[in-house]
Amino acid sequence: MIDIFNNFYKGKRVLVTGHTGFKGSWLSIWLHELGAEVVGVGLEPYSEKDNFVLSGIGQKIKADIRADIRDGEKMKQIFNEYQPEIVFHLAAQPLVRLSYEIPVETYQTNVMGTINIMEAIRATQSVKVGVMITTDKCYDNKEQMTGYKENDPFGGYDPYSSSKGACEIAIQSWRRSFFNPEDYGKKHHVSLASVRAGNVIGGGDWSKDRIIPDCIRALEAGKPIEIRSPKAVRPWEHVLEPLSGYMLLAQKMWENPTEYCEGWNFGPEQESVLNVWDVATAMVENFGFGELKDVSDPNALHEANLLMLDITKAKTRLGWKPRLDAKRCAVLTSSWYKRYKNEDVYDICIDEINEFLK
Ligand SMILES: NC(=O)c1ccc[n+]([C@@H]2O[C@H](COP(=O)([O-])OP(=O)(O)OC[C@H]3O[C@@H](n4cnc5c(N)ncnc54)[C@H](O)[C@@H]3O)[C@@H](O)[C@H]2O)c1
Repeated sequence: MIDIFNNFYKGKRVLVTGHTGFKGSWLSIWLHELGAEVVGVGLEPYSEKDNFVLSGIGQKIKADIRADIRDGEKMKQIFNEYQPEIVFHLAAQPLVRLSYEIPVETYQTNVMGTINIMEAIRATQSVKVGVMITTDKCYDNKEQMTGYKENDPFGGYDPYSSSKGACEIAIQSWRRSFFNPEDYGKKHHVSLASVRAGNVIGGGDWSKDRIIPDCIRALEAGKPIEIRSPKAVRPWEHVLEPLSGYMLLAQKMWENPTEYCEGWNFGPEQESVLNVWDVATAMVENFGFGELKDVSDPNALHEANLLMLDITKAKTRLGWKPRLDAKRCAVLTSSWYKRYKNEDVYDICIDEINEFLK
């Protein structure tokens, strides 16, 4: 595999929370291929068709641990046992609609879970870099036509978005109080950043109420794809885009711990900011069959209509930029779902990472 990180991850001890999930499984596969010793911490995968299960990555990494991030003592124990050097914290309750049903659990997992991970980092001398994954929805959404910048105010209407806004405030507080760059090398040895991606799509996601899994379920069942919010605009990006950003950022933080410990947006270029209807149409085109049905409901639960990220900072200071345009993103996403029934899913993922890096 092409190594855009110049051998940086080879032999590094990397702990990934949420490795059984969509983004975490891809990140674990990529890190494992680069030679990192990956320790994963998460709950049971949601289904037998998840990328985590089908790829078999759980059997390849150093440790595949089932543990709840709400259990702070357990997190400290795991960190103490495996002595990670780099932590990517992705574990979360990540669904807006579900957060209306289980707001308390959403806050417990997202906010207290994140604090437990930061406390485990604080208690473990080996950790040098912590990359905390929040979301583009952490910003106070004003439904504006311009992208949010990293220093825009946090907020969130629904419990999921606001829990991630609250995470950002907690991360900022822990950085000021315990991992302050001014005290680096004197009181601590940790560089802590938070990262905000857009709406991530790619193979192996079967979550409820997300557009790509909804499309695939309908296409596989030979039913029309029901679109709840056809006009909602989101910054769509392939899963490998933000992951490449998180990994590049961690490398930069390792090499220069006080320079990059801040918030970062990893979204798509402006042209990939499409509405839900356009994204579903691209999937139908790639599959060569299927139809869309508008099922908008004026009484539906509130979800943001317009959301964009400004990625100037990551481009100029990290030298990161999205690799795929909207069309290639849809092609790569469809490809996993077209192939997963007949081919080795680990190999599909490696092919797609190579394709992405070309
Ligand atoms: N998918 C997206 O479009 C998107 C966009 C922006 C941000 N994010 C963020 O990226 C991260 C990963 O999202 P995803 O789409 O892969 O979600 P996912 O639901 O596929 O995976 C979530 C992971 O978190 C784990 N988890 C959940 N609750 C846990 C708990 N209490 N203890 C331990 N582990 C727990 C699950 O087991 C799973 O491994 C989340 O933090 C999410 O908020 C996702």
